Amino acid sequence: MGSTGLLHLICLVIALVSVSLVQAEDAYKYFTWTVTYGTLYPLASPQQVILINGQFPGPRLDLVTNENVILNLINKLDEPFLLTWNGIKQRKNSWQDGVLGTNCPIPPNSNYTYKFQAKDQIGTYTYFPSTQLHKAAGGFGALNVYHRSVIPIPYPNPDGDFTLLVGDWYKTNHKTLRQTLDSGKSLAFPDGLLINGQAHSTFTGNQGKTYMFRISNVGLSTSINFRIQGHTLKLVEVEGSHTVQNLYDSLDVHVGQSVAVLVTLNQPPKDCYIVASTRFTETPLTTTAVLHYANSFSSALGPVPAPPVDKYDFDWSMKQARTYRWNLTANAARPNPQGSFHYGKITPTKVIKLANSAPLINGKLRYAVNSVSYVNPDTPLKLADYFNIPGVFSVNLLQNSPSNGPGYIGTSVLQTSLHDFIESWFRPVDRC
Ligand SMILES: *[C@@H]1O[C@H](CO)[C@@H](O)[C@H](O)[C@H]1NC(C)=O
Ligand SMILES: *[C@@H]1O[C@H](CO)[C@@H](O)[C@H](O)[C@H]1NC(C)=O
Repeated sequence: MGSTGLLHLICLVIALVSVSLVQAEDAYKYFTWTVTYGTLYPLASPQQVILINGQFPGPRLDLVTNENVILNLINKLDEPFLLTWNGIKQRKNSWQDGVLGTNCPIPPNSNYTYKFQAKDQIGTYTYFPSTQLHKAAGGFGALNVYHRSVIPIPYPNPDGDFTLLVGDWYKTNHKTLRQTLDSGKSLAFPDGLLINGQAHSTFTGNQGKTYMFRISNVGLSTSINFRIQGHTLKLVEVEGSHTVQNLYDSLDVHVGQSVAVLVTLNQPPKDCYIVASTRFTETPLTTTAVLHYANSFSSALGPVPAPPVDKYDFDWSMKQARTYRWNLTANAARPNPQGSFHYGKITPTKVIKLANSAPLINGKLRYAVNSVSYVNPDTPLKLADYFNIPGVFSVNLLQNSPSNGPGYIGTSVLQTSLHDFIESWFRPVDRC
């Protein structure tokens, strides 16, 4: 072998070694979670709640991008139970995000092991039960995805990190609430608002330091407005997208949404109120928590900061949402599958205009999208698709734009092809 040949061989060996290093497998995290009923007093009176490993809300799931999760969920309830993982994207190697149709609810006294990977989506999310109105009883929790050290984030690492799961709450058992809905009536007004399952929580920080507050609306029916007495909120992330960092006095967070803000404790050492109140409701429900300065000896004093002036001002909320801008130079889960950053310049394969409505169907109130009120079929969608079972779902039911026709019941599936580029518009019709 000549010296050039030897050099080639060495290069080849080095190349092979580095390939195997690069492909070293991402870390695995293992969990066993048991779902049970328990009795707690979220609003002073005893009621049945859903616990995960004895906790309400469930355990906070902190992940780092690229970590694999193997999570064995044991259902000890008397009903099938399905957890949906927000922020876990459906993809070839990770389709187990707990969405009905792809994943089945876990029958009572059995277990299922979710396997998924936290990929690219640095940010604030939640997991929650998505069937049987279980969310009205608990079973939800925080899912935070942190960045690997090699991935930059567009703000300095905060001095601390608080998670606030805020939501409306009913004293009524979830089965009774479900009966109300099944009988065709709408939900009553909630009994209160909770932060992390409690009516009183305290978050402690040091004067001069900056903290991240991750705020999610885990409620059933009402939007909330969030604010901190004497402090501004610097918005840095909305559901896994880093934003242009605007300052806000208060933020509207709608059901299912999450935002992350940075708050600097730049005030004299005095405790302050953290306030959440319901939006667009006749009589707002309000709950407070306390931001405690570690060097403070005085407790929080009212008045608590006021909500936006007009409680029915939908435009205020819409305008605020439009100020949330993607920071296009910060890292993100990009590019899209079409391999392009130029979203505005791709010709959509299909444009779908959607509108919701609340029609009466067979004398019962139901919710519908483009007139179709979805019913879950007995045969799981994924199985029907895989085995080509006819008559389970329909791909022609949903029209590409809303009409004013009456609502009807159906199992509608929107059909698309791999790498299609879909533009979808959403127009809320019944706004509350
Ligand atoms: C159920 O849990 C057992 C251990 O408790 C585990 O060995 C088994 O794989 C789990 N089954 C499923 C379907 O996840
Ligand atoms: C966007 O992110 C980049 C990269 O981290 C940062 O330098 C820049 O200040 C951010 N821009 C805004 C407007 O927040």
